[in-house]
Amino acid sequence: MVDLINKKKCGEAHTQEEISFLINGMLDGTIPDYQLSAWLMSVCFQGMTFDESAILTMEMAKSGDMLDLSCLGDCIIDKHSTGGVGDKTTLIVVPLLAAAGCPVAKFSGRGLGFTGGTIDKLEAIPGFRTALSTEEFLSQIKNIGAAIASQTANFTPADKKMYELRDVTATVNSIPLIASSVVSKKIAAGANVIVLDVKCGSGAFMKTADEARELAKTMVEIGKRAGKTMCAVITSMDQPLGNTIGNGIEVAECVQVLKNEGPQDLKELCLYLSAMGLVKAKKARNINEGKNYLEKFLQNGKAYEKFVEIVKYQGGDVEYIENPQRLSETQFAFEVVAEEAGYVQSLDALTAAKAAKMLGTGRDKKDDPIDYRAGVLLNKKIGDKVYKGDILAKIFANSIEQGNKSREILVQAFKLSKNPTEPTPLVVDVIE
Ligand code: URA
Repeated sequence: MVDLINKKKCGEAHTQEEISFLINGMLDGTIPDYQLSAWLMSVCFQGMTFDESAILTMEMAKSGDMLDLSCLGDCIIDKHSTGGVGDKTTLIVVPLLAAAGCPVAKFSGRGLGFTGGTIDKLEAIPGFRTALSTEEFLSQIKNIGAAIASQTANFTPADKKMYELRDVTATVNSIPLIASSVVSKKIAAGANVIVLDVKCGSGAFMKTADEARELAKTMVEIGKRAGKTMCAVITSMDQPLGNTIGNGIEVAECVQVLKNEGPQDLKELCLYLSAMGLVKAKKARNINEGKNYLEKFLQNGKAYEKFVEIVKYQGGDVEYIENPQRLSETQFAFEVVAEEAGYVQSLDALTAAKAAKMLGTGRDKKDDPIDYRAGVLLNKKIGDKVYKGDILAKIFANSIEQGNKSREILVQAFKLSKNPTEPTPLVVDVIE
């Protein structure tokens, strides 16, 4: 392992044999975390060739069970986001597609770095079981058309191990590491149509559209090599998606969108990503046709009903979905108030994420507990008109100290200007 670390440190490429050695040693415990961490950091600085990334991806995919979804139909759609702030699209896209008759088999992750994770959000619903056996997972999809589960011990264990380590060693934002992490899970999860939501901007791991394009191209190519129908939608993450950041509070916002209410940006993106899935699955001719078809399932309550069904099936307390305000009940609430009038010119996603994290919504160490009820509600977003004294945001906290610190950070996220500003379009590019 020392030789491998040294090789990568000097910018040399690994062979298939070396990558297999690394993955096997990581899994059987013969390579300790400190050596893996050093190797991960070297990859962050030196990168990997395209061939190395593809080998790493396949080794990670094969490190555990590979799901065979052929029993569920000939076309199964999956979607995955590279992670953002307030990015809760999975909780809407999965029931929406399932309500429209497309089975979805979704494995999700926990929060990583400053970004939230779907599994943490779902666990904010008391009783919700995210750890399903493969049998439970498949039988749920057969019965109700969708399941959202965490990676079981046997599913891409190499990614699970690496993901946890990257989260706490500042080694997340590397194109080969993100690409292999995402695509290995998608390959092992067995769907044949894969829609990737590649975030770019301050609240994403890829800060610029060019970096995001490079990541998107890498992932699309690796997926195609494995025989998958791939598409990557590059979306803006300059400001948080929707109006909430946290765990329970984000689930509550998804409930709103599933009832055809809630913030427009979130609804639009969910419709776009789901419609892209339909187009790639050849079930819609174009995005507009797909969006129009899917929107009906938000309007007629079927997508909401499907979400309730998923929650019930996975043991979650439906009371909290019927009364979603309970998902963000905290002991204390704080407000960020506008000190001047104007328009919101920017609302920095990373700063907003830090404000939320200060409340305990994410982890610093891999076994840290998280606060499921704490979070941030953004009342104003880019382009909104603001009067002096308006509440820009609310903070829900379970400690006065954390709430005050969070407010100090969140104030910095908002920049007001005298001139009207338009938010940048959400969909920046599509890589097919
Ligand atoms: N999402 C993943 O699944 N893996 C990453 O590395 C980043 C985002």
